[in-house]
Amino acid sequence: MEKVPLALDVDTGVDDACALLLAARHPRLDLRAVTCVGGNAPLPDVVRNTATVLDVVGRDDVPLAAGSPRPLLEHPVDARHVHGADGMADLGMPSPRHPLDPRHAVDLLKDTIDAAAAQGTPLTLVPLAPMTNIALLARMHPGSFARIGRIVFMGGGAQVSNATAAAEFNVFHDPEAAALVLDAAVEHAVPVTMYGLDVFYEPTLTRADAAALIASGRPVAVFAGRLIEFLCQRFHAETATIGDAGAVASLCDPTALRTQRLPVRVELMGSWTRGRTIVDLRDWTGDLDHDPHGLAPAQVDVALGVDGPRLARLWLESVGGA
Ligand code: BDR
Ligand code: CA
Repeated sequence: MEKVPLALDVDTGVDDACALLLAARHPRLDLRAVTCVGGNAPLPDVVRNTATVLDVVGRDDVPLAAGSPRPLLEHPVDARHVHGADGMADLGMPSPRHPLDPRHAVDLLKDTIDAAAAQGTPLTLVPLAPMTNIALLARMHPGSFARIGRIVFMGGGAQVSNATAAAEFNVFHDPEAAALVLDAAVEHAVPVTMYGLDVFYEPTLTRADAAALIASGRPVAVFAGRLIEFLCQRFHAETATIGDAGAVASLCDPTALRTQRLPVRVELMGSWTRGRTIVDLRDWTGDLDHDPHGLAPAQVDVALGVDGPRLARLWLESVGGA
């Protein structure tokens, strides 16, 4: 099978770290770049955490660049109550050695997209964080945005929310960016898959899995096990989701994900609904034809079902293996 050339945009983040480990190790994936954005933690912490993961996994060949420290319009809000004070499980890791690419994240993405397109293997872009960098890319380098093969983003939800009663964290954190990316995807005919909260919580591991990873003594497995153990402790649970890593796992095993092509809008107003992804699940033409808003132009492959155990096993075998 051909490898999938991809770039990750992250706000590392415990589950972003899980996603990076998989993207860096799985034989089906060709990780070409990683870019950072403020989100789960302030940007300097995100960059340090991401560099740490790339060190652990021994991928000093992968360029890493810093992007936007804040959303387009919103004030920065972090999620350290979930991810720990340092944004990545407070494991006391040594200072990373992985160098920071001098390019801005937007320019690294542009160069990576253009190079992949020139080789005839368009890049899969995987935003796992507020989509500020991707929105800036769309505006600054529309030609390169148009050359993206596919966007698979973690964000939103058809029926499930977390940051507010209506909205998911990544989209709520920068709703303008998410709206702009969907808009640009329509304009440039870039296919989009939304790996949202409807499936996000389903690939899970147990405390016992974490213990086995740690007991293996292999550095990548030990690190992975400590991330899972942190999440179990934080939520006082026997299991933890691999979160963002599920989106990456679905690239390795696409049939584990059930998607439906649906119109999606991002709510930018609303007293209580700002940042909600409005996924149009209606199927009666009577309603659709008489809707004063008309159908949303963005047709997104929305993940509505997942074989969670299969993706969790895929992650475990990849990060736990020799
Ligand atoms: C998303 O928000 C962050 O906390 C996670 O890393 C994930 O990308 C889930 O809403
Ligand atoms: Ca994330």
